[in-house]
Amino acid sequence: MDSSSETALLANDPPHVAVARDLLAWYDVHARQLPWRAPPGTPPSEPYRVWLSEVMLQQTTVAAVKAYFAAFIERWPSVMDLAAAPDADVMAAWAGLGYYARARNLLACAREVSARGGVFPSTEEELRALPGLGAYTAAAVAAIAFGQRAVVVDANVERVVARLFALEDALPGARPRIRELADRITPDARAGDFAQAMMDLGATVCTSRNPRCLLCPISADCAGRMSGEPERFPVKAPKKAKPRRQGRAFWIEREIGGEPHVLTVRREGKGMLGGMRALPDDGWSAKGDGHAEPPLAGAWEPLGRVEHVFTHFTLELGVSGWLGADAPLEQMARDIDGEWWPLARIDEAGLPTLFARAARLGLT
Ligand code: ADE
Repeated sequence: MDSSSETALLANDPPHVAVARDLLAWYDVHARQLPWRAPPGTPPSEPYRVWLSEVMLQQTTVAAVKAYFAAFIERWPSVMDLAAAPDADVMAAWAGLGYYARARNLLACAREVSARGGVFPSTEEELRALPGLGAYTAAAVAAIAFGQRAVVVDANVERVVARLFALEDALPGARPRIRELADRITPDARAGDFAQAMMDLGATVCTSRNPRCLLCPISADCAGRMSGEPERFPVKAPKKAKPRRQGRAFWIEREIGGEPHVLTVRREGKGMLGGMRALPDDGWSAKGDGHAEPPLAGAWEPLGRVEHVFTHFTLELGVSGWLGADAPLEQMARDIDGEWWPLARIDEAGLPTLFARAARLGLT
């Protein structure tokens, strides 16, 4: 077949085939260069790198992930290295990325893969059975690391698909329908490139606001564009107001060996920020306010407040500083299983963002 008749054949492709073809041709030229990514059309990156990046990228921007990804790969170059790391080191290295259940699951998964000789399974179904791999991550790793046909839908892909089909159903109820439509346009070959092309299109062209339809390789097939109001998609159900919760954290300093130290605790296993180092607090949670009682009777001063937005609630955290004597601190630290941390190395404590902000009030 000469190339002109081939082009003619392609031009007659049905729209769902044309979308994949046009999008992949665009990706061949415009793919973002990202540290975990193999260039278009080349053999895939190692599964470890793909898996690590996909876990980090859930609910987190590419810009925020880059430095964390580099630090993890440098410190733990293989899944076996990560599996052998102490929990506390991995939790501290994750500090600031948020959604800390991901870090706990990351370790559980690394240890499971390590027990299988460090080899990731290659099918979506087997990947889904690993700790912490939800439908999205299993599909993304199957497609990107193993070239398997899998339907990969993140928030960017959701937006592109909702616009392409001018879908009137509102999110989040529309998710199953969006998945079906994404399935319809996913090609058998180059599924990993296709998934990442959809993500790049969503991140750089088909943006939530001011989509750049003139630059879009699939605008000819886009019902959202034809509607004249692409920005209207995806339609979203009205958001529920987030509850506000009140909490209190306690800044307790004392000198040890002539150096100022602050009392830190490790938070309980699976709750909010579970497994992370933190300041002692009053038991606030997503479900209710804290009890506001300090861990020690005596003199406290208000150091200020921080407001922190979690997925399901907003927390207003007041910070109180201890003004009393050193004498009772030893016993209290034992009672709450605390650890005295040197102020000079507070940046290395691995405090999650909420407590790092609270600590800044104590440090000033
Ligand atoms: N977001 C989630 N995974 C991604 C990837 N592989 N490339 C770009 N953005 C992403």
